[in-house]
Amino acid sequence: MKIGRTLVSAEEIDAKLEEMGAAITRDYEGKDLLLVGILKGAFVVMADLARHIALPLEFDFMAVSSYGASTKSSGVVRILKDLDEEIDGRHVLIIEDIIDTGLTLQYLMKNLKVRNPASLKLAALLIKEGVERPPLDVAYEGFHIGPEFVIGYGLDFDGKYRNLPYVAVVDEV
Ligand code: IMP
Ligand code: MG
Repeated sequence: MKIGRTLVSAEEIDAKLEEMGAAITRDYEGKDLLLVGILKGAFVVMADLARHIALPLEFDFMAVSSYGASTKSSGVVRILKDLDEEIDGRHVLIIEDIIDTGLTLQYLMKNLKVRNPASLKLAALLIKEGVERPPLDVAYEGFHIGPEFVIGYGLDFDGKYRNLPYVAVVDEV
């Protein structure tokens, strides 16, 4: 595998996260906000987005994996690590790196909603176009990209390349 062309540059990502952070700051003014990052992919966007949010945030993480196939979501989600804290009455914003089939988030939203948060919203840096998915209300979104497989900025290929500071396509060799 080779790193292919850059799809979203580090500069474009930073500018977008600044916009998203400003919107989140406005929307949650005066409220206690808990960011929930979905491991592993979201750790990069979570760290950078959070620094564009001018509120006294709290952080928690969940780790999930979908059963089976490698690069395709099966829709059957297994919780590998649950939240440390209860979210009853909390304002919760889920942070995701990318929405592909949307099955992971559909499951997670359902799973977290029954814990009675005061509010539950979703932020994602990348959304794949041309993919059929269940309706998902993404309150804060970054970039719409094509249906190709991408790496970098938290996204991996076989566990690697999460540390690339930009988003690139994969060149098969
Ligand atoms: P979904 O359930 O199909 O929306 O899958 C979401 C998860 O699959 C993301 O959080 C990523 O971890 C992974 N994923 C989806 N598309 C890509 C990609 O193009 N590159 C790397 N990981 C991806
Ligand atoms: Mg992920």
